[in-house]
Amino acid sequence: MRRSIDAPLKRVDKRLPAAKISVSSTVLDFALAARVIFVTGKGGVGKTTVVAALARAIAARGHRALVTEIGIPGDDYSPLAGLFGRHQLPREETLLLPNIHGVILLAQVGQELFAARTLRSKRLVRRIFDSDAIQGFLRFAPSCRELGIYYHLLSLVQKQDDSGRARYDKIIVDMPATGHALALTSLPKVIKKLFQRGPIARVIEEGQRCFNDPQMTRALVVTLADQLPVSETIELIAGLEQSDTAVGGIFVNRVTENLFTHQEAELLRAALSNGQLLGAETLDRIGKASRAIARLRADTRYPIRVVPEFATADLVAQIAAAIDGEPTA
Ligand SMILES: Nc1ncnc2c1ncn2[C@@H]1O[C@H](COP(=O)(O)OP(=O)(O)OP(=O)(O)O)[C@@H](O)[C@H]1O
Ligand SMILES: [Mg+2]
Repeated sequence: MRRSIDAPLKRVDKRLPAAKISVSSTVLDFALAARVIFVTGKGGVGKTTVVAALARAIAARGHRALVTEIGIPGDDYSPLAGLFGRHQLPREETLLLPNIHGVILLAQVGQELFAARTLRSKRLVRRIFDSDAIQGFLRFAPSCRELGIYYHLLSLVQKQDDSGRARYDKIIVDMPATGHALALTSLPKVIKKLFQRGPIARVIEEGQRCFNDPQMTRALVVTLADQLPVSETIELIAGLEQSDTAVGGIFVNRVTENLFTHQEAELLRAALSNGQLLGAETLDRIGKASRAIARLRADTRYPIRVVPEFATADLVAQIAAAIDGEPTA
């Protein structure tokens, strides 16, 4: 029988709404209490796969999801888009699967939307953005790119349908790896030092009401069950807390399943101790993973969902099922 190695929910952030938390909650329920979900973590840990899986799990529950990621100029392939059978996420919000839309976050789109909001003249906005000099300035001026992306994302959150209802119930953002993710979540504090009033300050305040409110936005941190990734995860969580971004939970991804009781593992360890057998390596990996998870439990206070290493063709569907599976307690 598989043992549950998820953390008890009583470790959750005290600032989060108590009504949403019950012992039968899954990490998905916990994340779903917010509208915007930032998926972040160290490079290569499975962020993109988790974003696609979350979108599927959310869409299957009947919510309208939007998946998005920060566009990098010149990049012509997106692994996230790849998981939806495309080369790139579209520039316009497009239906990728039932209940799942996708769009790429672009600094220029955000800058144009911001200019349109402040200038209110489409012709003037077009003239400004058609100028190479202004384009160059916007590309290189400090924080201009981040501000554009920030505003593009904010405008997606604020988007409404004809009946005045939010266009998307859940927006899942495939965030860049650690350092770049923190650059974005720390943006409001940096910008507020530069602009105390005026349109930029107002946008930042609007953004803070959305991205720094735990009922609106939560980060899900993905990690592998190894010492180094766990150390980086603990640092990343501290950085997110410092930038007032609520953490919704931790996904410990690609964990080798432990099929043995403590006694069986001891017996196996003794039997395998003389040879470089494949089983010894697996046993070692299981031991390392449970130590890393124990450390995460001790040093963080968020729900933990363990996602196994899968060797299947439809990885995203498997992870979606794992995410929406057992309760965390
Ligand atoms: N639970 C899992 N079981 C097996 N393979 C997995 C699992 N999760 C992710 N992978 C594989 O790990 C690799 C890295 O995943 P992914 O691209 O999602 O990571 P990432 O964190 O988005 O990487 P990057 O930082 O480069 O954007 C992919 O080949 C993916 O298929
Ligand atoms: Mg990725």
